[in-house]
Amino acid sequence: MQSAYTWIFTTGIIVFFVVIVVLLFFTRSPIELPLSFNGDVEDIPSDSEINVAGLSEDARLSYERAKTWQEHHPPNSIPTDITPPQFVSIQEKGVSAFEFEGEPEANCFVAGRTEIQFMEGENCVQTNLPLPRNQDVYYWEAKMYDMPESTVVSVGVATKPFPSWRLPGWNRYSIGYFSNNGTKCFSTPFNSKPYGMPYKHGDVIGVGYKHRTGTIFFTKNGRKLEEAYSGLRWNLFPTIGANGPCQVHVNLGQMGFVFVEANVKKWGLAPSQGTLSPPPAYGTERDTVLLAMGTSNDATTVIDMTVPPPRPPPYENLLD
Ligand SMILES: *[C@@H]1O[C@H](CO)[C@@H](O)[C@H](O)[C@H]1NC(C)=O
Repeated sequence: MQSAYTWIFTTGIIVFFVVIVVLLFFTRSPIELPLSFNGDVEDIPSDSEINVAGLSEDARLSYERAKTWQEHHPPNSIPTDITPPQFVSIQEKGVSAFEFEGEPEANCFVAGRTEIQFMEGENCVQTNLPLPRNQDVYYWEAKMYDMPESTVVSVGVATKPFPSWRLPGWNRYSIGYFSNNGTKCFSTPFNSKPYGMPYKHGDVIGVGYKHRTGTIFFTKNGRKLEEAYSGLRWNLFPTIGANGPCQVHVNLGQMGFVFVEANVKKWGLAPSQGTLSPPPAYGTERDTVLLAMGTSNDATTVIDMTVPPPRPPPYENLLD
């Protein structure tokens, strides 16, 4: 009798610790990954009056508006940890769980999750999910698919929420590598520093993140540049901005990377295929939904509005 209780007690303790370990593993431990600002990220320079006065009228208005906006929507003021349902979705769908989302007020469009069309004006888009932290390095690439010389693109990362009319690098906390002058910029337009070569139409810019040191590095056309910043401890979202029309196609890991090391080491944001088998062709799926819902009288109009417009099947790229 005595030993039976001991056994139950021991099992209880073991189960308790297993649960704790699982929780620590799947939710991010604040001890292991403090949301602090250490490492070699230079202090964010205060934006002196002189700096601001040097901006053009449009740039100054955009800057002031973003500054006020961030006072009301500070970085990291919304929960951005990957939730258990999102975690499951990444496992099931693989990299297609990630997609770029334009803010409703932003003047740009996203097709097929990763093909971004920028229109007039300054705009940026971010992914729905942050860079995960399970493997040592995460990596993605952006191809300047159609980019006029007059357009400036910034490829980088940013926290959320982030003002949708600003390029990454210009506001807290974000990093951008700029196409026009090859500079890198961190959190304010006034600390842009020489970094890599400028880039243009046809070039592929890669971004790598090592979460243990909070390091961001870039690649250009498959060649690694020096590490840009380290000590970044926030949830970072792949972010791309442009100040005019252009088209940027992003590879989050659904295809082979131009940077060979990232292919060999499988640094994509998630496996190209998840645990779920590919869904049936879109047409079939849609018919089933309409058929199933068609029995209810007033549901038809609702369905017509909620069914998204036809898109290419999500697994298209895997067939290449
Ligand atoms: C490089 O270009 C970007 C975008 O126009 C600008 O914000 C930044 O200040 C420039 N840096 C330098 C050193 O000219």
